[in-house]
Amino acid sequence: DNNYYEELYRPQFHFTPEENWMNDPNGLVYYQGEYHMFYQYNPKGNTWGNMSWGHAVSKDLVHWEHLDVAMEPDELGMIFSGSAVVDKHNTSGLFKGGSGGLVAIFTHAGDTQKQSIAYSEDKGRTWQKYEGNPVLENQGIEDFRDPKVFWHEDTEKWIMAVAADDRVQFYSSPDLLDWEFMSEFGEGMGAQEGVWECPDLFEIPVDGDPNNTKWVLQVDINPGAIAGGSGGQYFIGDFDGETFTTDQKAEEINWVDYGKDFYASQSWDNTKERRIWTAWMSNWNYAEDIPTSPWRSAMTIPREVGLKTSENGDILLTQKPIREMKKVRNKKHHLKSQNIDSDHLPVSEVQGQTQEIIAEFEIGSAEEFGFHIRKGEEEYTKVGYDTENQELFVDRTKSGDTDFNDDFPGIYAAPLASEENKIKMHIFVDRSSVEVFGNDGERVLTNQIFPKPESNELEIYAEDGDVNVTSLDVFELDSTWKN
Ligand code: FRU
Repeated sequence: DNNYYEELYRPQFHFTPEENWMNDPNGLVYYQGEYHMFYQYNPKGNTWGNMSWGHAVSKDLVHWEHLDVAMEPDELGMIFSGSAVVDKHNTSGLFKGGSGGLVAIFTHAGDTQKQSIAYSEDKGRTWQKYEGNPVLENQGIEDFRDPKVFWHEDTEKWIMAVAADDRVQFYSSPDLLDWEFMSEFGEGMGAQEGVWECPDLFEIPVDGDPNNTKWVLQVDINPGAIAGGSGGQYFIGDFDGETFTTDQKAEEINWVDYGKDFYASQSWDNTKERRIWTAWMSNWNYAEDIPTSPWRSAMTIPREVGLKTSENGDILLTQKPIREMKKVRNKKHHLKSQNIDSDHLPVSEVQGQTQEIIAEFEIGSAEEFGFHIRKGEEEYTKVGYDTENQELFVDRTKSGDTDFNDDFPGIYAAPLASEENKIKMHIFVDRSSVEVFGNDGERVLTNQIFPKPESNELEIYAEDGDVNVTSLDVFELDSTWKN
């Protein structure tokens, strides 16, 4: 039964384990009609430890079915983060019928960190670890982990991107068993204050044009991210099957998400023309203190990743909620356009703890404007736009329970220029999170919040001047856990 959806703070349309600790998404792959999600999991407790791969499957990336733990620690160590691929042509020779199947590539974390594989002949339900593990020994590198593997069409080989201290290394293999070092990227590049983890590398169209593609190298850093603690950065460039190159200047940093709770994102393999990723919606600075039980942590909503040429010619990464998220829409409220002048206006018809808000504003004289979400007697979270500094921000200092860790309360901001004097906000509010997509996914802020269940009012506000709300739709959202 699914009674757990009634628990305090239990996300309603975000993936969570039924119980116990979760961190990074792992082994994301689409195979025979199912999206797989494995994840860093402690089967024995609600803090980090005994790292295993938890497992769930979904037909639509919205409704998930929990399955048994896929892999647990063994004599080579704990099962850290990694990826999964479809070995269609049985290049590994591991599939007896010769029909191919799923292969997981992960880090064995024991005395040292090294890369190992496991395979499944039954659509991911059970896993055999390869007897020749590890397939890639430790190279004298302390932090050597989180292999992301994919098939490279042009050179017809498997490529592995793996974090190696402060950079990413690339290896290749004909069969997923023998790996050869090719190159590395990252020395002195981008954000360098912490260790690099969980790389992802993929090719996607620029401005939706399949004949004009670029490669994106996403890599996480802990600590030293834009909002403090752990977070993700990306590089845009080219990959020829051997080396990743970029025109990006060494000191330039591109942040994936400007909120505090977006880490270790990974994209699904084998999803054809769409590139979709999800991330762990927490931060290593306080992840073990968040006030939920008997589980800890959720994944973000899955997002479609794209590239867009901005007005100054730079290419930007964009993230948009996948279209399947429309499935959780319930009651719709369409609000008429209006001018708000130094005021806050309750949207009284909207009720509940979960909402999707789609708004467009025409900037007026207001110094800031936006929403107070999950508002109650003494609490609310502000999602606003600061017109002078041209920043989209989330203020969670008064969002509810914030004092379980000194680093939790805060205000997080992302630069966002208006387009023809307009600002768009697309917001997903769940029982314990708010994800804000600015101007069609050009900027994103992902943050956890822990308001009281009865704090469920929504308000529009404008401070010190006016703003035109030119369009506003609000959907109350369903729970994906209810049958
Ligand atoms: C990132 C990370 C990975 C590692 C895993 C361990 O959050 O530190 O680098 O594989 O978590 O749980």
